[in-house]
Amino acid sequence: MSSIAHGTEIGIATGRAHENVVAGNDVVRHQRASRLIHWSVAVSFFIALLSGMPIWTPLFGWMAYLLGGLEVCRWLHPYAGSVFFVMSIVQFFHWRSDMHLQPGDRDWIGSKAFTYMHHADSKPDAGKYNGGQRLFFYAVTLGAIGLLLSGIVMWFPLEFPVMLRELSIWLHDITFICFLIAVITHIYLGTAAEPGTFRSMTRGTVTRAWARFHHPDWYRKVTDEETKR
Ligand code: HEM
Repeated sequence: MSSIAHGTEIGIATGRAHENVVAGNDVVRHQRASRLIHWSVAVSFFIALLSGMPIWTPLFGWMAYLLGGLEVCRWLHPYAGSVFFVMSIVQFFHWRSDMHLQPGDRDWIGSKAFTYMHHADSKPDAGKYNGGQRLFFYAVTLGAIGLLLSGIVMWFPLEFPVMLRELSIWLHDITFICFLIAVITHIYLGTAAEPGTFRSMTRGTVTRAWARFHHPDWYRKVTDEETKR
């Protein structure tokens, strides 16, 4: 769907409530609800991370002091993890219509991600999100489910057989390590690597130039303007 609101206050006010509209020199990329959901996912993720790492190994014991000690972490971690899970599922349903996988997306697991990170791709994936973002989106949802299921077993250990408990510890640790690597890359791409991206999650808007450069097809749909491919 494309709609145009030209550079007026009205355009900006409308734009903040509705995504994919032009507001002056900006384009609204994430409406308020999307940003609130995203930051709830991020905040709960970091609370679960900070409370979970000191429980995992004493190497990160110092993190416990940030939250009031190890006992607080032990209590807090499963609740923060549960909030993270719930918000990830809310995020999944909120964004899934923009995240339909496309045939070339699997290339992002290897070569495409590499060329993208080195800015060597002259034809960036063009929709509102690129294949790497779509894969990350599904990985977050699957990872959240994996962390919840394995976490429940560890939360109520007496309810489950030893074998399942040991398997859950492995699943929880491996999922969390993959998550951490993916999230660090995600934060790097959303801030330092691609200037102008972070404000899409604070103000909700990006510049026209950012949209044209990173997501040309999306830009074209939103503005009805031709861009070179
Ligand atoms: C300080 C931490 C974080 C920052 C600065 C950040 C930044 C951003 C930004 C700027 C976007 C919009 C990208 C775009 O419109 O093209 C975004 C999207 C997204 N974020 Fe985050 N984020 C953070 C933490 C997280 C965490 C912890 C998760 C999940 C565990 C997460 C999951 C997502 C997902 C699934 C998307 C949509 C797909 C994508 O654009 O990659 N974010 N984030």
